[in-house]
Amino acid sequence: MRGIVLAGGLGSRLWPITKVTSKQLLPVYDKPMIYYPISLLMAAGIREFSIITTRKDSEDFKFLLGDGSKWGVSFEFLCQDAPKGLPDAFNLVDKSKLNDGSVLILGDNLFYGSQIAQKVMQLLNRPDSAIFGYLVNDVSFFGSFELDSDGAITKLIEKVSSGRGFAIPGIYKFDSTVMSYVKDLIPSKRGELEITDLLKCYLLENRLSYQILDRGTAWLDTGTVENLNQAAELIRVIQTRQGMLIGSPDEVALRSGLISPADFEKLLDGYGESEYAKSLLNVLSGYEN
Ligand code: TTP
Repeated sequence: MRGIVLAGGLGSRLWPITKVTSKQLLPVYDKPMIYYPISLLMAAGIREFSIITTRKDSEDFKFLLGDGSKWGVSFEFLCQDAPKGLPDAFNLVDKSKLNDGSVLILGDNLFYGSQIAQKVMQLLNRPDSAIFGYLVNDVSFFGSFELDSDGAITKLIEKVSSGRGFAIPGIYKFDSTVMSYVKDLIPSKRGELEITDLLKCYLLENRLSYQILDRGTAWLDTGTVENLNQAAELIRVIQTRQGMLIGSPDEVALRSGLISPADFEKLLDGYGESEYAKSLLNVLSGYEN
């Protein structure tokens, strides 16, 4: 299964910060934002990635991430010329790479919590298409869904209704038939292909399932100044309290056996004297003892 990380977009809610660099390259405490979705998918077993960026930022992402081999995975970088919407990612990825299904993750979404990688694995093992549901006080900022009394999805809603309900976090599993729907999608009023419209195609055929992420999981969207700072603070508090890293592809690569402790030590050199390097050193000593 292929992981598609969406790291394009305008990032206009963070202007002027994102005028010169991509939102997904901004720090969330001690590491770039894109480390979080990549490490989550790696921990859930994804090894092949397509990373969607703007043309302007593409070289920076390549410089930061390389071809993935340092973490025992593979990255391809694809440029999106304009923010044409989330399903537009499928127009960029070679069709032959979608035969085993795919998981689309938003580069500005951050998940943290007990067993989160296992929960993502369960999502990816579902047939057809699958989403998470996350109970929030105000769904108006998100895509959301409604359920009937039997717990089946009756309706998918794109950021219109308000009030308490199930928001859809930015991680979506699709099967190999996704392109047959994407090719017929029409841009919405805001000029984008909408993920909700794609999910509706599956729902119409009873091929969309969901899994609830309970209160043991934190899900943050880091697209606004307030949320970006909250995310950084959450990571800071947990990491400093527990002395453990959250969202480190280096650590996931080591713990998943994708790289050896010797490879890991070489990675450490690339991080100099940083706080992040010190945290990785702790990972290594804990791993070896
Ligand atoms: P958004 O937060 O909806 O859009 P944005 O990142 O452009 O930010 P803003 O609304 O402040 O202008 O995007 C969600 C994620 O998806 C984010 O990580 C960027 C990514 N994205 C793409 O890669 N391509 C796209 O066409 C769009 C719309 C978003």
